[in-house]
Amino acid sequence: MQGKILVAGAGGQLGRELQRSVPAGCQCIALSRAELDIGDAAQVRVVFAEHAPDAVINAAAYTAVDRAEEEEAQALRINGDGPGHLAAACAASGARFVHVSTDFVFDGSASTPYPPDAPANPLGAYGRSKLAGELRVREALPAAVILRTGWVYSALGANFVRTMLRLMGEREALNVVADQVGTPTWARGLADACWAALARPQLSGTYHWSDAGVCSWYDFAVAIAEEAQGLGLLARLPAVRPIPSEDYPTPARRPAFSVLDKSASWRDLELPPVHWREQLRHMLREIEES
Ligand SMILES: NC(=O)c1ccc[n+]([C@@H]2O[C@H](COP(=O)([O-])OP(=O)(O)OC[C@H]3O[C@@H](n4cnc5c(N)ncnc54)[C@H](OP(=O)(O)O)[C@@H]3O)[C@@H](O)[C@H]2O)c1
Repeated sequence: MQGKILVAGAGGQLGRELQRSVPAGCQCIALSRAELDIGDAAQVRVVFAEHAPDAVINAAAYTAVDRAEEEEAQALRINGDGPGHLAAACAASGARFVHVSTDFVFDGSASTPYPPDAPANPLGAYGRSKLAGELRVREALPAAVILRTGWVYSALGANFVRTMLRLMGEREALNVVADQVGTPTWARGLADACWAALARPQLSGTYHWSDAGVCSWYDFAVAIAEEAQGLGLLARLPAVRPIPSEDYPTPARRPAFSVLDKSASWRDLELPPVHWREQLRHMLREIEES
C-alpha cells in the first residue's frame, strides 16, 4: 500500500494506535481535534486542499455515551455531520475512506451475533448520532468502508480496563454489571483492521470488528484482575461481584447484547480472529513494560 493517509481524531485510542502501525510506503498525516475539527465543513475542505490525501481514516468521534444524552446536538455535529463532511471531501477528491462506527447502533435485543446488515435501532443519543454518521457516509460515498466496533480499550486512553486497574488497586471489592454481553476490542487490532481495509481497494460496505469470543463486563473485569495480578500489576486479587444493570443506573441505556458477527471481516480483511483475553494480555504486558 502506498500514499498519503489522513487520520482524523489522532489523539484518541484508535488514532494513536493507527500512528503506531502505519504500513511501509504510506505517509500518515495524523491530525488531532485541535488541528482538524471534523464537524467544521470549511476546515475539512482547507485540510484536504492543503494535504490532498489519497485516503482518510476517521478515528474522530464524540464518545461520551452518557453525556451525549444531554448534548445530543453536539454529538450529532461530530458523529453525524463530521463523517459526512469527510466523506463528501473524499468523494470530491477521489480519496478512499474508512469510517469507524459502533455496536451501539443496535438495540441489543438479539441473541446471536449481529451481522453487518442487521436492522439498526439505537437505544440512546450516542448510537443515534453514530447511525446518522453512517447514513451520511453512505449517501456521500457509497464506496466507503464502515467498520463497526465495540468495547474499545488501549494502554493509553480512558477505558474500562484502565478504570478497573485503578479501582482494583484502591478497593478490596468491586461490583460489575453481568447482564450486558459483548466483545472487548484492543485498539491495536482495530487499527490493523482499518489498515487492512485500506489495503484492499475493492473493499466497500459495512463490516464488523472486535476481538473474538464473548463476555459480560463482569467476566471482563474478572479476567483483568487475574491477568493483571499474574503480571504483577496488582498486588492482590480484589473480589469482583456480578450485579444486574438496574443496580448501576446510567443516563444512557446500553444494549444488553452487542456481540458483532465478524466472519466477513476475518474473510475479506484476511485477519485471523484473536480471542479477547489474549489481546487483553498483550495490552496489560504493554502497561507492565512501560
Ligand atoms: N471507545 C469505545 O468503547 C468505542 C466503542 C464502539 C465504537 N467506538 C468508535 O471507535 C472510534 C474510535 O474510538 P476511540 O475509543 O478511539 O475514541 P476516543 O479515545 O474517545 O477518541 C476520539 C478522538 O476524537 C477526537 N474528537 C472529538 N471531537 C472531535 C472533532 N470534532 N474533530 C476531531 N476530533 C474530535 C477526540 O478528541 P478530544 O479527546 O480532544 O475530545 C479524541 O481524540 C470512534 O468512532 C468511536 O465511536 C468506540
